[in-house]
Amino acid sequence: MSILDKHGVIERNATLLLVLSLAVVSIGGIVEIAPLFYLQNTIEDVEGMRPYTPLELTGRDIYIREGCYVCHSQMIRPMRDEVERYGPYSLAAESQYDHPFQWGSKRTGPDLARVGGRYSDEWHVDHLSDPQAVVPESIMPKYAFLSHRMIDGEYVQDSVATHAMVGVPYSEEMIANAQADFAAQADPDADTEGLQTRYGSEGGWGGNDVVVRNFDGQPGISEMDAMIAYLQMLGTLVDFSTFTPDASR
Ligand code: HEC
Repeated sequence: MSILDKHGVIERNATLLLVLSLAVVSIGGIVEIAPLFYLQNTIEDVEGMRPYTPLELTGRDIYIREGCYVCHSQMIRPMRDEVERYGPYSLAAESQYDHPFQWGSKRTGPDLARVGGRYSDEWHVDHLSDPQAVVPESIMPKYAFLSHRMIDGEYVQDSVATHAMVGVPYSEEMIANAQADFAAQADPDADTEGLQTRYGSEGGWGGNDVVVRNFDGQPGISEMDAMIAYLQMLGTLVDFSTFTPDASR
């Protein structure tokens, strides 16, 4: 009986074929996935990475609600053209607190992984309100309504608590103060000591202070404030002037 005849036995038995196919496919899967749990560069803790503040988290929720990820990726690949255009390639640690991750699968617009600090808040207000007023050939939709939708962080505590449940290191104190921290970040006159001790440089994350501003320039907290707070933080947490990647990369 030649080897091909033996294979014929499998081809004539659907159940056997199914079981053996699954076995073969899972070997491939294990070989690809298992090392990720042991490779240093996929699990390393990177200085500066902290959980998102309640305002940033709210902005992130709006980003997801509006489907920004349909046109924008948040993942700079380690290829020369991408690194030259967008900055240092994305680290695994930079999306460790993303539930769900926002890597995206399509770039109709540019990658946003390091958009933080690239433009002023006013630029973002103008651009989000009417992209074509800033970039005439843009096909990005208008999101002017974000400025008119006022929010009070009513559910932000639940959101923070839920993220804690799935492993984001939000402390009891962060959960308890979620709504206050949410309001403080958008108000330059607020007492932000609590916010900064929890999330800022004093918080033990080794990063910078949380950016506190009236992001949309109008009174009250709007969805625009939350969205811009989120965008301005993207890619700014890790300091790439001092970060040295693991040697195995
Ligand atoms: C239909 C696709 C599409 C959608 C949806 C979309 N964008 Fe865009 N976006 C673009 C395109 C195209 C550009 C490049 C032209 C421009 O700057 O307007 C862009 C540019 C940007 C830029 C400037 C990036 C840079 O580095 O210059 C930001 C920030 C941005 N978008 C944010 C958002 C946010 C936030 C949302 C969701 C509220 C969103 N976009 C939804 C297509 C889209």
